[in-house]
Amino acid sequence: MVAVTTKPVRMIDLILAKRAGSEHNKADIAFLINGIMDGSIPDYQLAAWLMAVCWQGMSLQETAELTDAMRHSGQVLDLSGIGPVIGDKHSTGGVGDKTTLVFVPLLAAAGIPMAKLSGRGLGHTGGTIDKLEAIPGFQVDISIDQFIGQVKEIGMAIAGQTAELAPADGKIYALRDVTGTVESIPLICASIMSKKLAAGANFIILDVKCGRGAFMDTEEKAVALAREMAEVGRILKRPVTAVVTDMEQPLGRAVGHTVEVIEAIETLKGNGPEDLNELCLELGSLALVHAGITKDQAEARSRLQKLIDSGEALKTLGVLIRAQGGDDKVLTDYSIMPTAKHTKPYLVPGSGKKWLEHLDGKRVAEACKLMGAGRMKKGDPVNMAVGVVLNIKAGDSTEGGATAAVIHYDTEEHYSEAASKLAEAFSFSDKFVEKPKLIKASIS
Ligand code: URA
Repeated sequence: MVAVTTKPVRMIDLILAKRAGSEHNKADIAFLINGIMDGSIPDYQLAAWLMAVCWQGMSLQETAELTDAMRHSGQVLDLSGIGPVIGDKHSTGGVGDKTTLVFVPLLAAAGIPMAKLSGRGLGHTGGTIDKLEAIPGFQVDISIDQFIGQVKEIGMAIAGQTAELAPADGKIYALRDVTGTVESIPLICASIMSKKLAAGANFIILDVKCGRGAFMDTEEKAVALAREMAEVGRILKRPVTAVVTDMEQPLGRAVGHTVEVIEAIETLKGNGPEDLNELCLELGSLALVHAGITKDQAEARSRLQKLIDSGEALKTLGVLIRAQGGDDKVLTDYSIMPTAKHTKPYLVPGSGKKWLEHLDGKRVAEACKLMGAGRMKKGDPVNMAVGVVLNIKAGDSTEGGATAAVIHYDTEEHYSEAASKLAEAFSFSDKFVEKPKLIKASIS
Protein backbone atom coordinates (compact mmCIF):
# COMPACT_ATOMS: atom_id res chain seq x y z
CA MET A 1 0.00 0.00 0.00
CA VAL A 2 1.19 3.55 -0.75
CA ALA A 3 0.98 7.04 0.75
CA VAL A 4 -1.13 7.76 3.81
CA THR A 5 -4.09 10.01 3.02
CA THR A 6 -4.03 13.62 4.19
CA LYS A 7 -6.55 15.19 6.59
CA PRO A 8 -10.01 14.06 5.47
CA VAL A 9 -12.40 16.78 4.52
CA ARG A 10 -15.11 14.75 2.92
CA MET A 11 -16.08 11.11 2.66
CA ILE A 12 -15.41 11.25 -1.08
CA ASP A 13 -11.71 11.81 -0.27
CA LEU A 14 -11.62 8.59 1.73
CA ILE A 15 -13.39 6.67 -1.04
CA LEU A 16 -10.98 7.97 -3.71
CA ALA A 17 -7.95 7.32 -1.52
CA LYS A 18 -9.01 3.76 -0.78
CA ARG A 19 -9.97 3.13 -4.41
CA ALA A 20 -6.42 4.16 -5.36
CA GLY A 21 -4.97 1.79 -2.75
CA SER A 22 -3.81 4.41 -0.24
CA GLU A 23 -3.62 3.74 3.47
CA HIS A 24 -5.87 5.65 5.87
CA ASN A 25 -4.44 7.10 9.07
CA LYS A 26 -5.98 7.23 12.56
CA ALA A 27 -7.72 10.58 11.88
CA ASP A 28 -9.26 9.23 8.65
CA ILE A 29 -10.64 6.23 10.49
CA ALA A 30 -11.98 8.40 13.34
CA PHE A 31 -13.71 10.62 10.73
CA LEU A 32 -15.28 7.53 9.15
CA ILE A 33 -16.59 5.97 12.36
CA ASN A 34 -17.82 9.30 13.77
CA GLY A 35 -19.65 9.95 10.48
CA ILE A 36 -21.27 6.51 10.58
CA MET A 37 -22.37 7.01 14.16
CA ASP A 38 -23.77 10.56 13.77
CA GLY A 39 -25.44 9.68 10.47
CA SER A 40 -23.53 12.29 8.41
CA ILE A 41 -22.11 9.62 6.06
CA PRO A 42 -24.89 8.31 3.81
CA ASP A 43 -25.18 4.59 3.12
CA TYR A 44 -24.26 4.98 -0.57
CA GLN A 45 -20.87 6.50 0.33
CA LEU A 46 -20.20 3.93 3.00
CA ALA A 47 -21.12 1.17 0.54
CA ALA A 48 -18.68 2.59 -2.05
CA TRP A 49 -15.93 2.72 0.59
CA LEU A 50 -16.64 -0.88 1.68
CA MET A 51 -16.35 -2.08 -1.90
CA ALA A 52 -13.03 -0.20 -2.28
CA VAL A 53 -11.77 -1.98 0.88
CA CYS A 54 -12.84 -5.32 -0.58
CA TRP A 55 -10.70 -4.71 -3.65
CA GLN A 56 -7.72 -2.89 -2.14
CA GLY A 57 -7.58 -4.38 1.37
CA MET A 58 -6.21 -2.65 4.45
CA SER A 59 -2.82 -2.74 6.14
CA LEU A 60 -2.55 -4.39 9.55
CA GLN A 61 -2.18 -1.01 11.26
CA GLU A 62 -5.23 0.35 9.43
CA THR A 63 -7.28 -2.72 10.40
CA ALA A 64 -6.20 -2.27 14.03
CA GLU A 65 -7.21 1.44 13.93
CA LEU A 66 -10.58 0.50 12.42
CA THR A 67 -11.11 -2.22 15.05
CA ASP A 68 -10.24 0.18 17.87
CA ALA A 69 -12.49 2.96 16.57
CA MET A 70 -15.38 0.50 16.16
CA ARG A 71 -14.78 -0.88 19.68
CA HIS A 72 -15.09 2.65 21.10
CA SER A 73 -18.25 3.47 19.10
CA GLY A 74 -20.35 2.27 22.06
CA GLN A 75 -20.11 0.87 25.57
CA VAL A 76 -16.85 -0.88 26.51
CA LEU A 77 -17.28 -3.31 29.39
CA ASP A 78 -14.92 -3.09 32.33
CA LEU A 79 -14.58 -6.58 33.80
CA SER A 80 -11.42 -5.80 35.76
CA GLY A 81 -13.30 -6.08 39.07
CA ILE A 82 -13.93 -9.77 38.40
CA GLY A 83 -10.30 -10.83 38.55
CA PRO A 84 -7.02 -10.82 36.67
CA VAL A 85 -8.05 -13.39 34.03
CA ILE A 86 -11.37 -13.41 32.19
CA GLY A 87 -11.76 -15.58 29.13
CA ASP A 88 -13.88 -15.29 26.03
CA LYS A 89 -14.23 -17.58 23.06
CA HIS A 90 -15.48 -16.87 19.60
CA SER A 91 -16.27 -19.12 16.68
CA THR A 92 -16.67 -17.74 13.19
CA GLY A 93 -19.67 -20.02 12.97
CA GLY A 94 -20.50 -23.26 11.36
CA VAL A 95 -22.96 -26.10 11.13
CA GLY A 96 -23.59 -28.05 14.34
CA ASP A 97 -21.29 -25.78 16.36
CA LYS A 98 -22.41 -26.16 19.95
CA THR A 99 -18.90 -25.74 21.41
CA THR A 100 -19.85 -22.76 23.63
CA LEU A 101 -22.40 -24.86 25.53
CA VAL A 102 -19.61 -27.25 26.53
CA PHE A 103 -16.69 -24.83 26.69
CA VAL A 104 -18.14 -22.20 29.05
CA PRO A 105 -19.07 -24.55 31.95
CA LEU A 106 -15.95 -26.67 31.40
CA LEU A 107 -13.61 -23.69 31.64
CA ALA A 108 -15.56 -22.14 34.52
CA ALA A 109 -15.21 -25.48 36.36
CA ALA A 110 -11.45 -25.26 35.70
CA GLY A 111 -11.32 -21.85 37.40
CA ILE A 112 -11.38 -19.40 34.46
CA PRO A 113 -14.24 -16.87 34.65
CA MET A 114 -16.04 -16.92 31.29
CA ALA A 115 -17.90 -13.84 30.05
CA LYS A 116 -19.50 -14.90 26.79
CA LEU A 117 -21.67 -12.80 24.54
CA SER A 118 -23.10 -14.80 21.66
CA GLY A 119 -25.19 -14.19 18.58
CA ARG A 120 -28.42 -15.44 17.13
CA GLY A 121 -28.15 -17.22 13.80
CA LEU A 122 -29.09 -15.70 10.52
CA GLY A 123 -28.00 -18.75 8.59
CA HIS A 124 -29.44 -22.20 8.04
CA THR A 125 -29.65 -23.04 11.74
CA GLY A 126 -29.70 -20.80 14.79
CA GLY A 127 -26.77 -19.47 16.83
CA THR A 128 -25.73 -20.37 20.38
CA ILE A 129 -28.32 -18.02 21.86
CA ASP A 130 -31.13 -19.69 19.91
CA LYS A 131 -29.95 -23.13 21.00
CA LEU A 132 -29.94 -22.12 24.68
CA GLU A 133 -33.57 -21.07 24.35
CA ALA A 134 -34.47 -24.73 23.79
CA ILE A 135 -33.90 -25.09 27.57
CA PRO A 136 -37.19 -24.12 29.26
CA GLY A 137 -36.90 -20.79 31.08
CA PHE A 138 -33.30 -20.01 30.04
CA GLN A 139 -32.96 -16.21 29.78
CA VAL A 140 -30.44 -14.93 27.26
CA ASP A 141 -31.58 -11.29 27.18
CA ILE A 142 -30.00 -10.25 30.47
CA SER A 143 -28.75 -6.73 31.21
CA ILE A 144 -25.06 -5.86 31.15
CA ASP A 145 -25.12 -5.33 34.95
CA GLN A 146 -26.68 -8.75 35.46
CA PHE A 147 -24.15 -10.27 33.05
CA ILE A 148 -21.17 -8.82 34.94
CA GLY A 149 -22.74 -9.62 38.33
CA GLN A 150 -23.27 -13.25 37.32
CA VAL A 151 -19.67 -13.69 36.10
CA LYS A 152 -18.53 -12.27 39.48
CA GLU A 153 -20.84 -14.53 41.46
CA ILE A 154 -20.71 -17.88 39.67
CA GLY A 155 -17.78 -17.43 37.26
CA MET A 156 -19.72 -17.53 33.98
CA ALA A 157 -22.53 -16.05 31.92
CA ILE A 158 -23.77 -16.44 28.35
CA ALA A 159 -25.91 -13.63 27.00
CA GLY A 160 -27.10 -12.24 23.68
CA GLN A 161 -24.82 -9.73 21.99
CA THR A 162 -26.12 -6.28 22.94
CA ALA A 163 -26.52 -3.45 20.42
CA GLU A 164 -24.70 -1.17 22.90
CA LEU A 165 -21.35 -2.88 22.24
CA ALA A 166 -19.56 -1.75 19.05
CA PRO A 167 -22.75 -0.29 17.46
CA ALA A 168 -20.73 0.89 14.44
CA ASP A 169 -20.35 -2.78 13.52
CA GLY A 170 -24.13 -3.24 13.45
CA LYS A 171 -24.48 -0.37 10.96
CA ILE A 172 -21.54 -1.47 8.80
CA TYR A 173 -22.54 -5.15 8.85
CA ALA A 174 -26.12 -4.38 7.74
CA LEU A 175 -24.71 -2.66 4.63
CA ARG A 176 -22.06 -5.33 3.98
CA ASP A 177 -24.77 -7.94 4.00
CA VAL A 178 -26.60 -6.30 1.08
CA THR A 179 -23.65 -4.93 -0.93
CA GLY A 180 -21.56 -8.06 -1.48
CA THR A 181 -18.85 -6.84 0.91
CA VAL A 182 -18.98 -9.46 3.66
CA GLU A 183 -16.00 -11.48 2.39
CA SER A 184 -13.16 -9.09 3.21
CA ILE A 185 -10.57 -10.20 5.74
CA PRO A 186 -9.92 -6.73 7.29
CA LEU A 187 -13.68 -6.06 7.53
CA ILE A 188 -14.42 -9.45 9.11
CA CYS A 189 -11.48 -9.02 11.47
CA ALA A 190 -12.57 -5.53 12.59
CA SER A 191 -16.19 -6.68 12.95
CA ILE A 192 -15.39 -9.65 15.18
CA MET A 193 -12.51 -8.13 17.14
CA SER A 194 -14.29 -4.81 17.89
CA LYS A 195 -17.15 -6.71 19.56
CA LYS A 196 -14.79 -9.06 21.41
CA LEU A 197 -12.62 -6.18 22.67
CA ALA A 198 -15.69 -4.18 23.76
CA ALA A 199 -16.93 -7.22 25.70
CA GLY A 200 -14.00 -6.79 28.08
CA ALA A 201 -12.39 -10.24 28.47
CA ASN A 202 -8.62 -10.08 28.72
CA PHE A 203 -7.86 -13.05 26.53
CA ILE A 204 -9.71 -14.45 23.58
CA ILE A 205 -9.73 -17.92 22.06
CA LEU A 206 -10.86 -17.89 18.45
CA ASP A 207 -12.10 -20.85 16.46
CA VAL A 208 -11.88 -19.94 12.78
CA LYS A 209 -13.84 -22.42 10.71
CA CYS A 210 -13.00 -23.37 7.15
CA GLY A 211 -14.86 -25.38 4.55
CA ARG A 212 -18.24 -25.65 2.86
CA GLY A 213 -20.21 -25.02 6.06
CA ALA A 214 -18.24 -21.86 6.97
CA PHE A 215 -17.64 -18.22 6.01
CA MET A 216 -14.08 -18.97 4.91
CA ASP A 217 -14.31 -21.73 2.35
CA THR A 218 -10.59 -22.53 2.08
CA GLU A 219 -7.89 -23.26 4.64
CA GLU A 220 -5.72 -20.54 3.13
CA LYS A 221 -8.35 -17.83 3.70
CA ALA A 222 -9.16 -19.12 7.20
CA VAL A 223 -5.46 -19.07 8.20
CA ALA A 224 -5.12 -15.52 6.81
CA LEU A 225 -8.14 -14.37 8.88
CA ALA A 226 -6.85 -16.12 12.02
CA ARG A 227 -3.40 -14.48 11.59
CA GLU A 228 -4.95 -11.07 11.06
CA MET A 229 -7.08 -11.36 14.21
CA ALA A 230 -4.11 -12.56 16.29
CA GLU A 231 -1.99 -9.63 14.99
CA VAL A 232 -4.72 -7.07 15.64
CA GLY A 233 -5.06 -8.51 19.16
CA ARG A 234 -1.31 -8.08 19.64
CA ILE A 235 -1.36 -4.44 18.41
CA LEU A 236 -4.34 -3.66 20.68
CA LYS A 237 -2.71 -5.52 23.58
CA ARG A 238 -5.31 -8.27 23.94
CA PRO A 239 -3.82 -11.75 23.55
CA VAL A 240 -5.60 -13.89 20.98
CA THR A 241 -5.05 -17.57 20.31
CA ALA A 242 -6.69 -18.77 17.13
CA VAL A 243 -7.31 -22.29 15.93
CA VAL A 244 -8.36 -23.08 12.36
CA THR A 245 -10.76 -26.02 12.25
CA ASP A 246 -12.56 -28.04 9.61
CA MET A 247 -16.13 -27.10 8.74
CA GLU A 248 -16.49 -29.09 5.57
CA GLN A 249 -18.82 -31.41 7.47
CA PRO A 250 -20.89 -30.51 10.57
CA LEU A 251 -19.22 -30.49 13.98
CA GLY A 252 -20.44 -33.42 16.06
CA ARG A 253 -23.44 -35.42 14.93
CA ALA A 254 -26.39 -33.22 15.83
CA VAL A 255 -27.63 -30.26 13.77
CA GLY A 256 -30.67 -28.36 15.07
CA HIS A 257 -31.51 -26.79 18.43
CA THR A 258 -32.82 -29.35 20.95
CA VAL A 259 -30.65 -32.08 19.39
CA GLU A 260 -27.54 -29.90 19.73
CA VAL A 261 -28.28 -29.08 23.37
CA ILE A 262 -28.62 -32.83 24.03
CA GLU A 263 -25.26 -33.45 22.32
CA ALA A 264 -23.58 -30.71 24.38
CA ILE A 265 -24.93 -32.18 27.63
CA GLU A 266 -23.84 -35.67 26.57
CA THR A 267 -20.35 -34.28 25.87
CA LEU A 268 -20.18 -32.92 29.42
CA LYS A 269 -21.26 -36.40 30.59
CA GLY A 270 -18.28 -37.89 28.74
CA ASN A 271 -20.32 -39.32 25.84
CA GLY A 272 -19.61 -36.63 23.25
CA PRO A 273 -18.75 -37.26 19.61
CA GLU A 274 -15.02 -37.51 18.99
CA ASP A 275 -14.61 -34.24 17.04
CA LEU A 276 -16.63 -32.02 19.41
CA ASN A 277 -14.85 -33.52 22.41
CA GLU A 278 -11.45 -33.01 20.78
CA LEU A 279 -12.22 -29.39 19.85
CA CYS A 280 -13.35 -28.53 23.40
CA LEU A 281 -10.20 -30.12 24.86
CA GLU A 282 -7.94 -28.34 22.35
CA LEU A 283 -9.49 -24.88 22.84
CA GLY A 284 -9.82 -25.42 26.59
CA SER A 285 -6.23 -26.56 27.03
CA LEU A 286 -4.96 -23.50 25.13
CA ALA A 287 -6.99 -21.34 27.52
CA LEU A 288 -5.65 -23.07 30.63
CA VAL A 289 -2.04 -22.69 29.50
CA HIS A 290 -2.67 -19.06 28.59
CA ALA A 291 -4.19 -18.36 32.01
CA GLY A 292 -1.16 -19.96 33.70
CA ILE A 293 -3.33 -22.64 35.36
CA THR A 294 -1.27 -25.44 33.81
CA LYS A 295 2.24 -25.45 32.38
CA ASP A 296 1.46 -27.27 29.15
CA GLN A 297 -1.44 -28.49 27.03
CA ALA A 298 -1.02 -32.14 28.04
CA GLU A 299 -1.52 -31.30 31.72
CA ALA A 300 -4.42 -29.01 30.79
CA ARG A 301 -6.16 -31.73 28.77
CA SER A 302 -5.90 -34.21 31.60
CA ARG A 303 -7.32 -31.64 34.04
CA LEU A 304 -10.27 -30.92 31.73
CA GLN A 305 -10.90 -34.63 31.18
CA LYS A 306 -11.00 -35.14 34.98
CA LEU A 307 -13.61 -32.37 35.27
CA ILE A 308 -15.75 -34.23 32.73
CA ASP A 309 -15.17 -37.69 34.25
CA SER A 310 -15.98 -36.51 37.78
CA GLY A 311 -19.26 -34.83 36.73
CA GLU A 312 -17.95 -31.44 37.89
CA ALA A 313 -18.28 -29.85 34.42
CA LEU A 314 -21.88 -31.08 34.08
CA LYS A 315 -22.70 -29.78 37.56
CA THR A 316 -21.30 -26.39 36.51
CA LEU A 317 -23.64 -26.32 33.50
CA GLY A 318 -26.50 -26.89 35.96
CA VAL A 319 -25.32 -23.84 37.96
CA LEU A 320 -25.31 -21.74 34.77
CA ILE A 321 -28.78 -22.93 33.73
CA ARG A 322 -30.27 -22.16 37.17
CA ALA A 323 -28.58 -18.73 37.35
CA GLN A 324 -30.20 -17.74 34.05
CA GLY A 325 -33.66 -18.96 35.01
CA GLY A 326 -33.54 -22.29 33.17
CA ASP A 327 -34.83 -25.66 34.31
CA ASP A 328 -31.84 -27.86 35.19
CA LYS A 329 -34.04 -30.98 34.98
CA VAL A 330 -32.94 -30.85 31.34
CA LEU A 331 -29.66 -32.47 32.41
CA THR A 332 -31.49 -35.72 33.08
CA ASP A 333 -34.73 -35.34 31.12
CA TYR A 334 -34.36 -34.16 27.53
CA SER A 335 -38.09 -34.48 26.91
CA ILE A 336 -38.71 -31.12 28.64
CA MET A 337 -37.24 -29.40 25.54
CA PRO A 338 -39.27 -28.91 22.34
CA THR A 339 -39.31 -32.31 20.65
CA ALA A 340 -40.13 -33.12 17.02
CA LYS A 341 -43.35 -35.04 16.36
CA HIS A 342 -41.60 -37.80 14.41
CA THR A 343 -38.20 -39.30 13.62
CA LYS A 344 -37.32 -41.38 10.57
CA PRO A 345 -33.99 -42.69 9.32
CA TYR A 346 -32.38 -41.55 6.11
CA LEU A 347 -30.72 -44.65 4.62
CA VAL A 348 -27.41 -45.19 2.85
CA PRO A 349 -28.36 -45.77 -0.81
CA GLY A 350 -27.46 -48.93 -2.76
CA SER A 351 -25.94 -52.07 -1.27
CA GLY A 352 -22.60 -53.44 -0.11
CA LYS A 353 -19.76 -51.97 1.93
CA LYS A 354 -18.81 -48.34 1.34
CA TRP A 355 -17.11 -45.37 2.93
CA LEU A 356 -18.54 -41.92 3.42
CA GLU A 357 -16.25 -39.91 1.17
CA HIS A 358 -17.68 -36.46 1.75
CA LEU A 359 -20.40 -34.97 3.92
CA ASP A 360 -21.43 -31.48 2.88
CA GLY A 361 -22.16 -29.41 6.01
CA LYS A 362 -23.90 -26.70 4.03
CA ARG A 363 -26.41 -29.15 2.58
CA VAL A 364 -27.11 -30.71 6.00
CA ALA A 365 -27.81 -27.19 7.30
CA GLU A 366 -30.06 -26.48 4.32
CA ALA A 367 -32.03 -29.65 5.11
CA CYS A 368 -32.57 -28.30 8.64
CA LYS A 369 -33.55 -24.89 7.31
CA LEU A 370 -36.17 -26.46 5.04
CA MET A 371 -37.78 -27.85 8.22
CA GLY A 372 -37.78 -24.40 9.89
CA ALA A 373 -34.57 -24.59 12.00
CA GLY A 374 -33.08 -21.40 10.48
CA ARG A 375 -34.21 -17.88 9.68
CA MET A 376 -34.79 -16.10 6.38
CA LYS A 377 -34.58 -12.70 8.09
CA LYS A 378 -33.81 -11.17 11.49
CA GLY A 379 -36.53 -11.82 14.06
CA ASP A 380 -38.09 -14.83 12.29
CA PRO A 381 -39.08 -17.61 14.73
CA VAL A 382 -37.10 -20.87 14.58
CA ASN A 383 -38.36 -24.40 15.08
CA MET A 384 -36.32 -25.73 18.02
CA ALA A 385 -37.54 -29.30 17.70
CA VAL A 386 -36.48 -30.27 14.19
CA GLY A 387 -33.01 -31.35 13.10
CA VAL A 388 -30.74 -34.05 11.77
CA VAL A 389 -28.62 -36.48 13.78
CA LEU A 390 -25.82 -38.01 11.73
CA ASN A 391 -24.98 -41.66 12.19
CA ILE A 392 -21.84 -41.53 10.05
CA LYS A 393 -19.17 -38.90 9.39
CA ALA A 394 -16.62 -38.57 6.59
CA GLY A 395 -14.22 -41.53 6.56
CA ASP A 396 -16.64 -43.91 8.35
CA SER A 397 -17.41 -47.23 6.74
CA THR A 398 -21.01 -48.29 6.30
CA GLU A 399 -23.20 -50.33 3.97
CA GLY A 400 -26.16 -49.78 1.70
CA GLY A 401 -29.44 -49.77 3.66
CA ALA A 402 -27.79 -48.72 6.96
CA THR A 403 -28.94 -45.55 8.72
CA ALA A 404 -26.92 -42.55 7.53
CA ALA A 405 -28.86 -40.03 9.64
CA VAL A 406 -32.04 -39.65 11.65
CA ILE A 407 -34.35 -36.81 10.64
CA HIS A 408 -36.38 -35.18 13.44
CA TYR A 409 -39.39 -33.64 11.71
CA ASP A 410 -42.91 -32.32 12.26
CA THR A 411 -44.64 -32.89 8.90
CA GLU A 412 -44.26 -35.44 6.07
CA GLU A 413 -43.60 -32.55 3.68
CA HIS A 414 -40.67 -31.46 5.86
CA TYR A 415 -39.35 -35.01 5.92
CA SER A 416 -39.34 -35.43 2.15
CA GLU A 417 -37.77 -32.00 1.54
CA ALA A 418 -35.05 -32.66 4.13
CA ALA A 419 -34.42 -36.19 2.83
CA SER A 420 -33.86 -34.99 -0.73
CA LYS A 421 -31.47 -32.31 0.48
CA LEU A 422 -29.60 -34.91 2.56
CA ALA A 423 -29.25 -37.07 -0.55
CA GLU A 424 -27.14 -34.22 -1.99
CA ALA A 425 -25.06 -33.99 1.20
CA PHE A 426 -23.71 -37.56 1.31
CA SER A 427 -21.16 -38.90 -1.24
CA PHE A 428 -20.01 -42.50 -0.89
CA SER A 429 -17.02 -44.42 -2.24
CA ASP A 430 -16.34 -48.15 -2.64
CA LYS A 431 -12.75 -47.55 -1.54
CA PHE A 432 -11.25 -46.72 1.84
CA VAL A 433 -11.48 -43.01 2.73
CA GLU A 434 -9.30 -41.35 5.32
CA LYS A 435 -10.97 -39.30 8.10
CA PRO A 436 -10.43 -35.56 7.64
CA LYS A 437 -8.26 -33.67 10.11
CA LEU A 438 -10.28 -31.49 12.51
CA ILE A 439 -7.60 -29.04 13.66
CA LYS A 440 -5.77 -27.53 10.73
CA ALA A 441 -3.63 -24.81 12.32
CA SER A 442 -2.98 -23.08 15.63
CA ILE A 443 -1.96 -19.41 15.65
CA SER A 444 -1.03 -17.11 18.53
N1 URA B 1 -19.04 -12.55 12.14
C1 URA B 1 -19.04 -11.23 12.48
O1 URA B 1 -19.36 -10.88 13.61
N2 URA B 1 -18.65 -10.33 11.56
C2 URA B 1 -18.25 -10.68 10.32
O2 URA B 1 -17.90 -9.80 9.54
C3 URA B 1 -18.27 -12.04 9.97
C4 URA B 1 -18.67 -12.96 10.92
